[in-house]
Amino acid sequence: MRPRRVTVFGAGYVGLVAGACLSKSGHTVTVLDVDEKKLVSLRGGVTPFHEPGLDEIITGSIEAGRLIFEHPSNVTDFGEYVYVAVGTPSTSTGSSDLRFISAVVEQIVSTVPAGTIVIMKSTVPPGTGTALAKRLEAHGIGYVSNPEFLREGNAVKDWYETDRMVLGGNPETIDKVAELYEDILAPILRCDIPSAELIKYASNAFLAMKISFANEIANLCNTVDADVTTVMKGVGLDKRIGGSFLNAGIGYGGSCFPKDTRALDYLYSVNGHHSPLLKAVIDVNAFQRRVPVTAIRHRLGDLHGVRVAVLGLTFKPHTDDTREAPAGDIIRMLLVEGAIVPAYDPVGVMDFESDQYTQVGSVEEAVRDACAVIVATEWDEICDADWKTMTATMAEPKLVFDGRNCVDPAAVRAGGGEYVGVGRR
Ligand code: UDX
Repeated sequence: MRPRRVTVFGAGYVGLVAGACLSKSGHTVTVLDVDEKKLVSLRGGVTPFHEPGLDEIITGSIEAGRLIFEHPSNVTDFGEYVYVAVGTPSTSTGSSDLRFISAVVEQIVSTVPAGTIVIMKSTVPPGTGTALAKRLEAHGIGYVSNPEFLREGNAVKDWYETDRMVLGGNPETIDKVAELYEDILAPILRCDIPSAELIKYASNAFLAMKISFANEIANLCNTVDADVTTVMKGVGLDKRIGGSFLNAGIGYGGSCFPKDTRALDYLYSVNGHHSPLLKAVIDVNAFQRRVPVTAIRHRLGDLHGVRVAVLGLTFKPHTDDTREAPAGDIIRMLLVEGAIVPAYDPVGVMDFESDQYTQVGSVEEAVRDACAVIVATEWDEICDADWKTMTATMAEPKLVFDGRNCVDPAAVRAGGGEYVGVGRR
């Protein structure tokens, strides 16, 4: 593979993984960000988030002279390919805020020479890329939509072992972009720009739908005395359905599923359409976060002054990301109800302006003297803790609400506690 010179706009999650992996593949990469503090720590090989394998790649590429971090105003030569990987946060209407994208594109138009190719990695609503491509093509700059499917905590592996590479644009430009990825052995789906953009939203919406579906079935399991883990195992064994993303619990969080489902819902409504299915996916997910608080109030009554521990603050294990994590909403609800909330997470940190909330240093410390415990993230350290001994240290009625169905109910009961899972017997 011929090494190329690449610039990446944005040292956020996607930009850093893209920049690091492209440099590991042999390309020479400049990653740009406006945050000077972040640039300084990245130059020292320190990433602003926890992602297995990423620090090693960044340090190795910096040493090999293939990766540098710069402020956009200090760069004049952007190389042959320019990636856009800046944020597209949700607005209050659910639409995507494209201000950062517009600012970067304006800088590209005014600084890069004709012949450069812009590769869009940020998640943008279908239709965005067609307009951007037109604007860039007027300056002789090519444009390809290349959505990312990186899971946090698994991003480096997902970069190299992706199930598919989606490239949207004109065939000649797509061929040039495909040359960057010769070491990635995934099928390439070549298509038009809006289709590439919609593949990303539709994929995330479908995965979110699987989760909400499992959660809805779980809520029925409680009523008919079935076990959701067994039901979903049986459902997932059908190859047409597949077994992944069918784990019932307190729902999905993170920086992608909530934002992208909202943006897709907005896209429907702003175009005069309606997606009852998508609305239900979002609605079930919001409902699911209330389930533990409702269950605890139902069992304990008034929560004023009652100690309720929350275990796990990140939106899933193996990441330090707490964005839109179910634990955040759950803690807010508990605090509103007057509960005292000790919380624990192996790496994630959450702050609340309340002296009723404290983040403590161990699972045991959080659980001790609590009347109820909510397991919000399935970290091994939490699921595999000594629940028999720990439950014995709780205060009556020693209620363990397992929001991720990962704790052994028998151990809780052996410690004198009551176990409640999500659709789990
Ligand atoms: C997701 C997509 O998987 C990825 O392809 C996309 O590019 C970005 O968004 P990520 O946000 O890192 O990745 O998390 P993911 O592992 O997909 O999990 C999302 C949420 O769903 C987590 O809160 C997780 O706990 C929850 N989840 C997942 C379930 O509740 N049940 C499941 O069966 C699977």
